[in-house]
Amino acid sequence: MTASPSKLAILTFAYVSLCVQFIFTVGFNHQVHHSNFRPSPTIRLRATTQVRYIQIRPGAQFKIALFADLHFGEAASTEWGPLQDENSIKVMNTVLDDETPDFVIYLGDVITANNIPIANASLYWDQAISPTRNRGIPWASVFGNHDDAPFQWPMEWFSPPGIPEVHCPATSSAHSGEEECSFKGTGRLELIRNEIKHNVLSFSGNGPRDLWPSVSNYVLQISSSHDPRSPVAYLYFLDSGGGTYPEVISSAQVEWFQKKSQEINPNSSVPEVIFWHIPSKAYKKVAPKFLIHKPCVGSINKESVAVQEAETGIMKLLVKRPSVKAIFVGHNHGLDWCCPYKKLWLCFARHTGYGGYGNWSRGARILEITGQPFTFRSWIRMEDGDVHSEVVFS
Ligand SMILES: *[C@@H]1O[C@H](CO)[C@@H](O)[C@H](O)[C@H]1NC(C)=O
Ligand SMILES: *[C@@H]1O[C@H](CO)[C@@H](O)[C@H](O)[C@H]1NC(C)=O
Ligand SMILES: *[C@@H]1O[C@H](CO)[C@@H](O)[C@H](O)[C@H]1NC(C)=O
Repeated sequence: MTASPSKLAILTFAYVSLCVQFIFTVGFNHQVHHSNFRPSPTIRLRATTQVRYIQIRPGAQFKIALFADLHFGEAASTEWGPLQDENSIKVMNTVLDDETPDFVIYLGDVITANNIPIANASLYWDQAISPTRNRGIPWASVFGNHDDAPFQWPMEWFSPPGIPEVHCPATSSAHSGEEECSFKGTGRLELIRNEIKHNVLSFSGNGPRDLWPSVSNYVLQISSSHDPRSPVAYLYFLDSGGGTYPEVISSAQVEWFQKKSQEINPNSSVPEVIFWHIPSKAYKKVAPKFLIHKPCVGSINKESVAVQEAETGIMKLLVKRPSVKAIFVGHNHGLDWCCPYKKLWLCFARHTGYGGYGNWSRGARILEITGQPFTFRSWIRMEDGDVHSEVVFS
């Protein structure tokens, strides 16, 4: 399936200069040249920040598919590992064809970097995004704890006679054999830069430099169908760490969120939706004990919540903002519920990949947003076509 012209027409890659605090009169500044709507030179342009936007199609809902924990490249050196990836591709193909979403979010653990014995793990990352890209659907991704985990040498490579037989897969890269055989891993920045550089449909960001090595910290705007400057919702992405550094959302990220949200949504009038990979401790507080019962909604509750190592204030900040509607995480493959927590919802996605632990059937959480009036609901679409666990957030 290829993208229809109407779908392509809604893809806008320009930046929108948002109306924020500082007001000044300009002719054209640097930002305006990147905009596809040019204010007349006499207009008072209020601009300090740029947020990429995606516009809702006229008369339509905005539908997002969450692909969580695909774990491409897991057991890459075995016979069965690559088959898992083929199966994960099938899950994504099915979900994309059944739901025809406007946008996809890769919610971390896209790859199992600790199992990938090649220098360039982006080759696996690229396979994971290909079903979405092939359909002309834009996407954004956020890192999980496995995406840049250092390579772990499998013990069986050290079996008698004791010298590992290193297979250096022939990649298309022009680098020397030596480099291809160095499994130092592919860092977060390299992974996301490869994604962004080679994909016009990627809306992923690599975040402000001063937050690195925490990379996936950025915001996207969903805009109304009649005016790209008119926000319907903000999607915030935060890097919950893991892999090459601790599983935390740092106080620097909290500060960034506070500053950014103040800047672009000062009076909390626009709804906000949050995405990161590893659940925060609040998920443990609301987790159903055995069966999932109201007010929680979901279908599997098969393990305990695996939470971030520490918290430095992000939850306190989020619960205080009336505009924050829900948080979506992956990480736990055996959980797919949503539970209310104070004034917002805490939700798991649904394990999408055949990679990663657990054998619960695969699917994807779908989100649907409308503007004017704002509505927000979600359900889970399974690989076999089944739909369940609908929840209405507002
Ligand atoms: C790594 O793989 C990505 C994805 O296929 C590709 O775009 C990039 O050029 C590769 N980098 C190198 C150094 O080969
Ligand atoms: C909230 O702020 C926006 C600008 O960000 C402004 O357009 C709107 O009128 C404000 N609403 C209220 C209720 O103050
Ligand atoms: C996983 O589930 C499938 C389908 O229910 C089954 O065929 C397969 O044997 C299971 N695999 C494992 C490792 O349990």
